[in-house]
Amino acid sequence: MRPSFSSLSLSAASLSHTPCLTSSLTSQKMRLILLRSALKRGASKAIRSFSSESAPERKVAILGAAGGIGQPLALLMKLNPLVSTLSLYDIMGTPGVAADVSHINTRAQVAGFVGDDQLGDALKGADVVIIPAGVPRKPGMTRDDLFNINAGIVKGLCTAIAKHCPGALVNMISNPVNSTVPIAAEVFKKAGTYDEKKLFGVTTLDVVRAKTFYAGKGKVPVESVNVPVVGGHAGITILPLFSQATPAANALGAEDIKALTKRTQDGGTEVVEAKAGKGSATLSMAYAGAVFADACLKGLNGVPDVVECSFVQSTVTELPFFASKVRLGKNGVEEVLGLGPLSDFEKEGLEALKPELKASIEKGIKFANEN
Ligand SMILES: NC(=O)c1ccc[n+]([C@@H]2O[C@H](COP(=O)([O-])OP(=O)(O)OC[C@H]3O[C@@H](n4cnc5c(N)ncnc54)[C@H](O)[C@@H]3O)[C@@H](O)[C@H]2O)c1
Repeated sequence: MRPSFSSLSLSAASLSHTPCLTSSLTSQKMRLILLRSALKRGASKAIRSFSSESAPERKVAILGAAGGIGQPLALLMKLNPLVSTLSLYDIMGTPGVAADVSHINTRAQVAGFVGDDQLGDALKGADVVIIPAGVPRKPGMTRDDLFNINAGIVKGLCTAIAKHCPGALVNMISNPVNSTVPIAAEVFKKAGTYDEKKLFGVTTLDVVRAKTFYAGKGKVPVESVNVPVVGGHAGITILPLFSQATPAANALGAEDIKALTKRTQDGGTEVVEAKAGKGSATLSMAYAGAVFADACLKGLNGVPDVVECSFVQSTVTELPFFASKVRLGKNGVEEVLGLGPLSDFEKEGLEALKPELKASIEKGIKFANEN
């Protein structure tokens, strides 16, 4: 997979090296210094590439921008030099978030919109709409437990997207992604605006986790790791393909791969439990959402060979939606790539995930058609 998100990966790489450098300074002080210099480099690179590359105008809208994911995602998109307009929408709190983020000296012009009356203006002219609106999990909840609340929120927001920016690429973060993407598809079909090339379930956090856990266990440099993650975005429907991971980590045996697979599948729950009732992954999710949105923008701008995993309409299996590697282009999905060779363990995982994923997809379609 082509590494994307060039300017921010610099910052992320710098921060990830923190543990090697903390011998003489306290770790907190060191982290602050690294954060400052990483952001400075990100910002100056952003300004450099804005003036020298004259990237096209691109409007990105974030729906749910005042939330746990929305706020750091707004920050990261403000740092992205490919964004010229950043529209922040929520049912509350966006004027403050927008005022705050707008003071950062990067290209994107920021505007905050709050409440239903302003949703249309938030969306008009958007090239990419990112949706982290909704409620997050608490300990003991599955992503499916969020269905009743988030399904309605997603349906409402997608109805507005169909009306105000029907050509935008939609990046769905709200859970359960396995159902909210089919809900969005149904809403768009009813409105006559559905284009399967433009609807994405964001599964990038599964990829981010798989890369991190694999690098840690396999003792390979994390910034060079690639791991495709296929299937869906909940529990066993998340299927990391460690047999295709690069670089090869020869020391990893079958039990290690099993443990890595389980940890990737349970990564969200790990965070939910550690936050003990205060929500689910927000910072790592914002990073993952920013990586995926950046890939979408690069594709729109004609950068060749941009590939990320995403939950999209698919013929890779018999299921109508499935996550796999996707090549992004000027119209969104350019090509849904196949699974490649699977190990026996992955083949078993693939068969095991299908009934649950099928049920979640059908639940979404049913909801959209009955409500
Ligand atoms: N795809 C993934 O990998 C992934 C990872 C983590 C979390 N999530 C999901 O992302 C969603 C948001 O999580 P969070 O931690 O940011 O939650 P949060 O509660 O902190 O923020 C959600 C925000 O959505 C807003 N909101 C609610 N209804 C809205 C509406 N109709 N229009 C616009 N905004 C609305 C809320 O006001 C709030 O600001 C949850 O569904 C969570 O499960 C997805």
